[in-house]
Amino acid sequence: MTSDQVIRILGIETSCDETAASVYHSTAGVESSVLHSQIPLHAAYGGVVPELASRSHIEKINVVVQEALAVAGCTSADISGIAVTTHPGLPGSLLVGIGFAKAIAYAWGLPIVGVNHLEGHIFSVFLEHQVPFPYLCLTASGGHTALYYVTDFGCYELIGETLDDAAGEAFDKIAKVFGAPYPGGPIIEAQAQRAGFADVRGYPRLKRQDVSFSFSGLKTAIMYDLIRNGWYDQAHKKLTAVPETLFQDVASSLLVAVGDQFVDRVNRALSSYPARALAFVGGVACNQYLRDRLARSAQQHSIPLFWPSPKYCTDNGAMIAYVGAYRHRRGERAGLDLDLE
Ligand code: KG4
Ligand code: ZN
Repeated sequence: MTSDQVIRILGIETSCDETAASVYHSTAGVESSVLHSQIPLHAAYGGVVPELASRSHIEKINVVVQEALAVAGCTSADISGIAVTTHPGLPGSLLVGIGFAKAIAYAWGLPIVGVNHLEGHIFSVFLEHQVPFPYLCLTASGGHTALYYVTDFGCYELIGETLDDAAGEAFDKIAKVFGAPYPGGPIIEAQAQRAGFADVRGYPRLKRQDVSFSFSGLKTAIMYDLIRNGWYDQAHKKLTAVPETLFQDVASSLLVAVGDQFVDRVNRALSSYPARALAFVGGVACNQYLRDRLARSAQQHSIPLFWPSPKYCTDNGAMIAYVGAYRHRRGERAGLDLDLE
């Protein structure tokens, strides 16, 4: 934050499977960040079930927002404005947050701003670091994988994105094949570590010479590998008796292939965009192996790598409140007709 005006923003995030609220103070920083995770609700299904997600948001939103205010030690009278995620996300889930935010904005007489969830991730690094502009930002989560060139608060250009699945989605899907619950990323990382992050199975690499991403070919290569070796029963959609080390070998090869793709795309982008820093954000940025790979890329280009703490990598209200704060300061105001975008 650069201006002298001290403000306190309540951020609300319900775009997917976390009901989150946070109070962000323009000089004190994050005063609270409360979250109700729906992971146990969706775990058995191998992914987020939209109907269950929106119903759970309805049940939890009031409690989560009240707790965010209580932890921050404030009441509605101390809040300068409300920020809420309006896109992208699951429509039924977004609508719960937007409806609730508009109701309290009206009842408390407060201004409201809509926030792009991806902009929240892009600027989530500022919750804990002063990142120099311009920076290159790799956003990787269960729904998105993209590279942005960020020149100022709210100013960013999409320079490459996935043509199919998101990186996190690939981890979630392969983990599911091995019977692991959602989210698959942490399990893939733990399994890969057991195999020493070796490229045991050598899946093919992306041939495109640009900065776009693609993970569905990798997923298909893994499935063919399992089928060809008689380890996957296609008729019953389940694994047969497999070698003891198969999960760790596949997980490790998958993670190394994703790491190679991230590094290749980031290096290409850094050679044509004059970035002063690299940022790695989104749920997949919880991954230590991938952070280490990107740290080496940044080092080769003599720039620092920034990433948020795990609590700000995955979806959270603080990143929405942060973006809401600079938008509020710029005088941006939405009407009570604020809706999904
Ligand atoms: O940002 P996020 O909480 O939600 C979305 O906006 O999608 O990201 C969740 C994704 C999931 O796909 C999950 O498997 C992945 O982040 N993830 C990880 C790790 N922790 C979470 N992927 C790789 N390694 C991890 N340690
Ligand atoms: Zn997200």
